[in-house]
Amino acid sequence: MLKNDQLEQWDRESFFHPSTHLADFARGDLPQRVITGGKGCHIEDRDGNKLLDAFAGLYCVNVGYGRPEIAEAIAAQAKELAYYHAYVGHGTEASITLAKMILDRAPDHMSKVYFGQSGSDANETNIKLVWYYNNVLGRPEKKKIISRWRGYHGSGLMTGSLTGLALFHNKFDLPLSQVIHTEAPYYFRRENLEQTEAEFVAHCVSSLEELIAREGADTIAAFIGEPALGTGGLVPPPAGYWPAIQAVLDKHDILLIADEVVTGFGRLGSMFGSEHYGMKPDIITIAKGLTSAYAPLSGSIVSDRFWKVLEEGTDKLGPIGHGWTYSAHPVCAAAGVANLRLIDELNLVQRAGEVGAYLKQALTEAVGAHANVGEVRGDGLLCAVEFVEDRETRTYFDAEKKVSYALNSALLAQGVISRAMPEGDILGFAPPFCLTYDEADEIAGKLKIAVKSVLG
Ligand SMILES: Cc1ncc(COP(=O)(O)O)c(C=O)c1O
Repeated sequence: MLKNDQLEQWDRESFFHPSTHLADFARGDLPQRVITGGKGCHIEDRDGNKLLDAFAGLYCVNVGYGRPEIAEAIAAQAKELAYYHAYVGHGTEASITLAKMILDRAPDHMSKVYFGQSGSDANETNIKLVWYYNNVLGRPEKKKIISRWRGYHGSGLMTGSLTGLALFHNKFDLPLSQVIHTEAPYYFRRENLEQTEAEFVAHCVSSLEELIAREGADTIAAFIGEPALGTGGLVPPPAGYWPAIQAVLDKHDILLIADEVVTGFGRLGSMFGSEHYGMKPDIITIAKGLTSAYAPLSGSIVSDRFWKVLEEGTDKLGPIGHGWTYSAHPVCAAAGVANLRLIDELNLVQRAGEVGAYLKQALTEAVGAHANVGEVRGDGLLCAVEFVEDRETRTYFDAEKKVSYALNSALLAQGVISRAMPEGDILGFAPPFCLTYDEADEIAGKLKIAVKSVLG
């Protein structure tokens, strides 16, 4: 095919890119990359560069690129029935089958799945449902939502508020008043370096208790958290964190929303992070791994006790006043069915756990002893390396130095894509589950070279 030599120009002139420095891009100060293909853990750009994608797109292409099984399922569904809505009891074979497959994999106490398109809209749905739930129960004051600093739950109005990262609030008039934030379970960044992990968990619990006492449990509806922090730094929780938080929530009749957009369907080496860390959520948010991003689809899985109240609500109030045109879109649902089948057939959940442990070990061996590496951490295929100016005093680099961006570029120059996380000097590695051991070694080896070239 003849190369369109105007594409770069059209891109700068026409395309409003998400999460991008708009002025730099328009000026030409930010490189463009037009992706044209992908296979396994690699993507290819239109200049023929082949890159090892160690972040699986936005940690979503879990089964890897170029899977014909999913592409064919999408094509077959589009030919047979590209669309019908799911309102007023309608469904398609694909959407009903997928709901059943999700529940077969979810914790036993979960009851139904509502489908959306993105992680953000699923979390918007969740908060609306939580408010509805408390109104049906006659508790109109119980509405506030607790989220954690460094949590990431999307970038809508409510979900951007839930997200605990300044970049997503600044100048957007967020967070909304119903959202309150509590301590991030980020042991490495604890204020008191003397604290043991158990003492730090106790500190997170007492901060939460204080917040609840200050605000009044009667005003708090739900607590939302990712099983392991994602965009906020890729941080597995300290041991015992979730059972301790769960006990506080149960005591105060506060619902738990487990945001499993990243962890759902295997990234931690377990089907769900909720099981992995001992959470008992009332709602589970799913998205990315549900279709491995072959089509946009998300879901809210609600528990038995939550569902019963929703049913009671519609008996009192009539049909639930919530739905999107594309809820349970059949083409996306067909992608989901094919994706979950593939995950089972290739035993990818177990593989994510095994190759993830290997990757973390390889990263540790490659750079763990470097004077500027504060921590190499991870669980399953969710790994990070955090860089510091001084590891003894735990002094962080000045953000202006943009150390993680320099490291990210140095790695990219060698053909490996990592992700510089938005707060702190943290490089993220969350590749597809089909990562080979050789590819894990390649990531670690090239990281070592990148670290030497940037930090000496
Ligand atoms: C934990 C979590 N929740 C929600 C979202 C939002 O999902 P989306 O970008 O599909 O709206 C993300 C996206 O990265 C996420 O990581």
